[in-house]
Amino acid sequence: MNHYQFGVDYYPEHWPKERWATDARMMREMGIQIVRMAEFSWAKFEPSEGAFRFEDLDEAIDILGREGIDVILGTPSAAPPAWIVERDPDIQPLDWTMRRRHFGGRHHDCQSHPVYRAHIKRYVTAFAAHYADNPHVVGWQVDNELGNSHGDLCFCEHCEARFRAWLKQKYVTIDELNRAWGTAFWSQGYASFDQVHAPRVTVTGLNPSQDLDWKRFTSNLICEFHQFQADILRAHAPGKFITHNLMGFCSKPSYYDLGKQLDFASHDQYPGGHFHARHDEYRADWHAAELDFIRAVKQKSFWIMEQQSGITGWEILGRAPKPGQIPLWAMQCVAHGADTIVFFRWRSCAMGTEQYWHGILPHNGVPGRYHREISAFMKKYAPLLKELNGSVPKAEMAILRSYDQERAFDIQPHHPQHRYIQHLATYYKAFHRANVPVDFVGEEHDFTPYKVLIAPLQFLMTPEHAAKLRAYVERGGTLVLTWRSGVKDGTNLCHTEGALPCLVDDLCGVALAEYDCLRDTTGLVHWDGVDYPCDIWCDVLETTTAEPIAVYAHEFYAGSPAITRNRYGKGTVYYVGTQMAPELADRFACELCADAGIKPLLVTPHGVEVTHRVVDGKRYLFLLNHLETSQRVDVPASWRTWDDADWSGELSELGVQVFVEE
Ligand code: GAL
Repeated sequence: MNHYQFGVDYYPEHWPKERWATDARMMREMGIQIVRMAEFSWAKFEPSEGAFRFEDLDEAIDILGREGIDVILGTPSAAPPAWIVERDPDIQPLDWTMRRRHFGGRHHDCQSHPVYRAHIKRYVTAFAAHYADNPHVVGWQVDNELGNSHGDLCFCEHCEARFRAWLKQKYVTIDELNRAWGTAFWSQGYASFDQVHAPRVTVTGLNPSQDLDWKRFTSNLICEFHQFQADILRAHAPGKFITHNLMGFCSKPSYYDLGKQLDFASHDQYPGGHFHARHDEYRADWHAAELDFIRAVKQKSFWIMEQQSGITGWEILGRAPKPGQIPLWAMQCVAHGADTIVFFRWRSCAMGTEQYWHGILPHNGVPGRYHREISAFMKKYAPLLKELNGSVPKAEMAILRSYDQERAFDIQPHHPQHRYIQHLATYYKAFHRANVPVDFVGEEHDFTPYKVLIAPLQFLMTPEHAAKLRAYVERGGTLVLTWRSGVKDGTNLCHTEGALPCLVDDLCGVALAEYDCLRDTTGLVHWDGVDYPCDIWCDVLETTTAEPIAVYAHEFYAGSPAITRNRYGKGTVYYVGTQMAPELADRFACELCADAGIKPLLVTPHGVEVTHRVVDGKRYLFLLNHLETSQRVDVPASWRTWDDADWSGELSELGVQVFVEE
């Protein structure tokens, strides 16, 4: 049972001890029940080998405990201290030009280095044992945002040795590796596994099969690095949960794999972050997509481990959150399935890289607007979060998010502007605009609960995957496949038999005539008398059993099918041959929902998002206005306001209203 609705990330080591009791009291008064601490504090707690000094942390935990606040502790492997680096400098990673990345930031570690592993084992064992019986320490986080700056980073001999062992286990013989990687090309054949390296800086392009395996390997390495620490924690401090602060669509480790080791998933949500190119761009749909994806990691509700609580940035800052925007962002997380919101961070830090990544309190520790808004939000919504605990939005439609397809397109994007995740977002955003709830799934998940499965860019197509898609359609599912599907096998070699999309051409009822890459140009799709723009790529289709529902209206293939529909078994398969502009995606989403019998939650003006969570048949509906103007929204008479507020039909700027329907 999760007892927590609100928390905060706290770094007592950055502040004088005399302040800790004040902080703890202020946190309790605000409604904070849990803090996460210690994930970057190795140097302080082990200033030299084996000399553990947990006294200050004990004291901070004790002070918080006296205010009724529990603690999640982070293992500090994202920031090995100077004394380790000085003694064992080669635990610092080598980038792919074989250049050393040095101490002075964070994540300056090689995850496979045996000496570094020994240091981690010593620390984490002592840490876990020390806090095993502390009743206030209720959970763990291993490292921090694994995959953030990890993954492709280290190419040292230890990483390569592990890569070779991984390949040996996968391919058994070197002949099989040569076949699977197509090493006949450019004389790349290997006589033994010892000759195989991580992809290094080369004069020309890399072998795409080698690169795909390297990306898969680095994902596995990150997960194994997590498992290494999780095993120690579970052995020495049983009965406490383990979670991890994931980063939405980050693609370095597979979160489906990492999720198997977690009790529940957590996510870091910074909607107003400093990293966006344009701050006037509408991004609420993108943030919604990331939240829906995090829910897919364990297919259940989740936590936010870092929720933006002020203006943020490192050297460059983003925009200041407007009044009401921080509560709106937090409520959006709740609306998509978050049970607990932990705000990052308690107080803006006076030192180091993150001086401008503001917390609930400003540098001087005196509460201001962020504190006021967050306090009011917590007070009002703590009872709601309790009622919602463990529930999730219910969706009839799923989007397949595949790490492997994404890796393959990272290696060969085809078009300079093509990004796998952006392509998924084309579909997600259309359903978001229509207020149709969406789940994400991975290849391993069960597709059968969904009326519609959107499986974009199924570039790598194995017989097993094709069979799973086929079975889904045969039983009555509606499947959407998109361009460049069925092109390659599981090791990134092109299929050489049958028509594209290979292994599923009969399922789609199409055979590809040819394709075009829309370099420096765009195209048109003609549908029911309207021309819609398309971009990036065109699969030119010939139908076998499918019916064309839209055709191209540009180039020498004008009149050829661009979108098709095929009835197969008890189900239906759509094939979309091009990258749709938003207007076309909306038209397609509308067609698909009508055909599959899926109804939107509500029709709302642009910028008003609607989601729902269902608790024992009772529906909670969230209306979120992401725009800075108030908007008129008509809701059904059966919805009553959760807080018994009078509903005027007007949602204020950046406003939130929760309804219930019995
Ligand atoms: C997150 C990270 C935190 C902190 C924050 C602000 O990505 O987990 O440790 O760095 O960003 O930059």
